[in-house]
Amino acid sequence: MNDDVRKYIYGALMVFLIGVSAWIGFLFLNACGFSLTCRRGVPTVDRTPIPSLIPATMPAMQSGGGEAVAMTDQCRVAATDLLGAWVSAGSSEKEPFQFTDVNGKVCESTFEEVQPLFVEANLWSSGLACVSCHSVDVAVSPAQLDLSSYAGMIAGSRRENAESKKGTDILGSGNWKGSLLYEFISTSKADVPGHTVAVSDLLIFAGTPLPMPEATATPMPTITPTP
Ligand code: HEC
Repeated sequence: MNDDVRKYIYGALMVFLIGVSAWIGFLFLNACGFSLTCRRGVPTVDRTPIPSLIPATMPAMQSGGGEAVAMTDQCRVAATDLLGAWVSAGSSEKEPFQFTDVNGKVCESTFEEVQPLFVEANLWSSGLACVSCHSVDVAVSPAQLDLSSYAGMIAGSRRENAESKKGTDILGSGNWKGSLLYEFISTSKADVPGHTVAVSDLLIFAGTPLPMPEATATPMPTITPTP
């Protein structure tokens, strides 16, 4: 009789313990999405149903069109090299000058393509146009330098007033690498606002290619007509 009661009590206890461990096991697996491989305590990554990369739907660019051909025909040159070519050729306002582009093409350009380099914003690394500081008003312009016009550039820096046509030559009398302009473009000057970062090797499209000179073209066999 005593034994029977003990059996019942033990039996009930066993059933209870098995039930409890099964329940804890279930909760554990449930929290791990019914897998044994999850590491709990690691925050789950929030994922939105919207993919962050939108698949491109634009049509592929067509090659062989008139525009594309014109593009490949243009010359590509570092802005500083274009400036250098202009200065080395005598910095004329109207006369064309030649330069060699990054692909070795011989090209021709004029001051018209040089001027925007000083006027356009967000072109050089500082983001500011040169003329936003070196503007037409010599009285307020840093270094009394006006880069807004051809006349201003030729007149140079450290001018006494707007009438004075003779300041410090910033074009190095045609010696590009020795010019103030080259120095202030190619080197960073920590203490000069607007010049804290040297101008990077910005590539631009400029100029038109010249026909290849005879010497580099493959010589064609000449046929002498018999008289
Ligand atoms: C944030 C204003 C600012 C911008 C933008 C700026 N400069 Fe300057 N620049 C200065 C200051 C300031 C000086 C030094 C003035 C001084 O030493 O009295 C200077 C000096 C110069 C000088 C030397 C002149 C001399 O006689 O010492 C040249 C050349 C020059 N800048 C060219 C440029 C060119 C080219 C750009 C555009 C790529 C440009 N600057 C953009 C402010 C600026």
